[in-house]
Amino acid sequence: MTDTVSTAAPVFSVAQERRIVTAIPGPKSQELHARRLAVVPGGVSSTLPVYIAKANGAVLVDVDGNQFVDFGAGIGVTTVGHTETAVVEAAASQLQDVIHTLFTITPYEEYVRVAELLAEHTPGDHAKKTVLVNSGAEAVENGVKIARKHTGRRAVAVLDHAYHGRTNLTMAMNFKAMPYATGFGPFAGDVYHAPSSYPYRDGLSGAEAAARTIGYLEKVIGASDLACLVVEPIQGEGGFMVPADGYLPALQEWCTANGVVFIADEIQSGMARTGAYYASEHFGLVPDLVLSAKGIAGGLPLAAVTGRAEIMDSAQPGGLGGTFGGNPVAAAAAIAVFEEIEKSSLLGEGARIERALKPALFELQKKYDIIGDVRGIGAMLAIELVQPGTASTTKEPNAAAVSAIAAYAAEQGLLVLTAGTWGNVLRFLPSLAVSDELIADAVSVLDDAFAAL
Ligand SMILES: Cc1ncc(COP(=O)(O)O)c(C=O)c1O
Repeated sequence: MTDTVSTAAPVFSVAQERRIVTAIPGPKSQELHARRLAVVPGGVSSTLPVYIAKANGAVLVDVDGNQFVDFGAGIGVTTVGHTETAVVEAAASQLQDVIHTLFTITPYEEYVRVAELLAEHTPGDHAKKTVLVNSGAEAVENGVKIARKHTGRRAVAVLDHAYHGRTNLTMAMNFKAMPYATGFGPFAGDVYHAPSSYPYRDGLSGAEAAARTIGYLEKVIGASDLACLVVEPIQGEGGFMVPADGYLPALQEWCTANGVVFIADEIQSGMARTGAYYASEHFGLVPDLVLSAKGIAGGLPLAAVTGRAEIMDSAQPGGLGGTFGGNPVAAAAAIAVFEEIEKSSLLGEGARIERALKPALFELQKKYDIIGDVRGIGAMLAIELVQPGTASTTKEPNAAAVSAIAAYAAEQGLLVLTAGTWGNVLRFLPSLAVSDELIADAVSVLDDAFAAL
C-alpha cells in the first residue's frame, strides 16, 4: 500500500456528461434486445434495455452513442469508477501471468494479499481470516455454513426487508418473495425473519426496535439454537434503511452475550461506499464475520467472508472453496481497488457525495410532498415515495411514481435504480468518481421528472 495521496484530477476516457442522441432505447439496442429475447430467458430481466458498449468513470455509453450518468454503478459494484485505470492495469497484467490454477490446488500470492487487506480494513483489530468466493450470495452461504459449524447450532436469523441473494439458502433469507423466491421452493429450513428497525415507518427508537428484535429471537428461536444473526448495516434492496441509533450495537451485544455469530452482510454497503470501508463503522460495530462482494474488485466477480480467526478455522480442511473462488485476475483487481481507495483518498469521496446530493434531495422533498423520506449515508442515498398527502400519516407506498421517475430520468440520460419492499424507493449509489457537477445535473433531471409527474 502506498503512502502518497494523489491530488491530480482523475483523467477519463469518456466525457463525463449526459448525451442523448436517439430515442431510448435506440435502434441498435432494440436490435440487440430482439436477439436477446430469443436466447436469454425472461427471468433475467434488465432495468433499462440499452446495451452498453463502453463505460468510464460515472458514465455509460450505449451502442447507439447515448451517454448516461450512472447513479447505479452496477448496483454498487464499480465504486472506484467504471474501468478505473489502476484496476484495468492490474487485471491486464495478471492476465499475462496466471489466469487460473485453483487456490485449493496450487495457491498464489494475490489471494493471500486480498485476505491481508481484508484483515486490515474490516472492523476490529482481532486476528482475522478470509475465504474468497465468487458472488455475494455465495459469501452469505459460506458465512452461515461457518457459523453453524462453529456453534454447532441450527437456526439462522435475518431481519425483515433483508436481501441476501438468489441461491436456495439466500432465497429463504430474503424478505420479499416476489420476484426472488416465488415458485422456486422448497426452500432451506431453519431461517427466521425477525422484525427490523425502519425509523420512517415504525417510529421506534433504537432501544425499542432492538427489544422487539431480541424478543423475537428469544421467544421464537431461543438463543441456544441460534447459530447466527445476519444483518445488512444499511439495508440495500430493502430501500437503504438506516437503523435507529443504538439498534445494531444492541443486537451485536445480545449476540455476543449469547454465543450467536453476528454477521454483517456488507455486500452492498461495504468497500468505501458510505465513506468508511464498512458501514458497520458508522454504528461502532465489530462483527464476528463480515461479508464483502460487489465493489471489492472494481467490477470483477469476487466476494469474501472475513472473520474472527477462531470462527473461520472451525471449518474442516476441504470444507471451504470452489473452482473459481479468489480467481487471480479478480484478486489482482481487488488489490488495485484497495490501493486506489488509499491513494486517491476515496473514503472522503463518500462524504463529499453525501454533502452534494443529500441537501438537494431534502430541497426536492420540500417541493414534492410525495417524497416521504430522504435517507442514507455517503454514496448510498435514497428517497422513499408515498401517495400525495400521506407522507406523515399513512405513508402509502407509491411505486408508480418511482417507475415513472426512473423512466423519465433514463430518457434524459440519468440511470437511477429502484428498491424497497413495496418498490417505492429510488436509490442513488453512484461511483465515487461522480463529480459535484454531475450530481447537480442529475438533481435537475430528477426535479424535472417530479415536475412532469
Ligand atoms: C446485501 C446483499 N447481500 C447479498 C447480495 C447478493 O449478491 P450477489 O448478487 O453477488 O449474489 C446482494 C446483492 O444485491 C446484496 O445487496
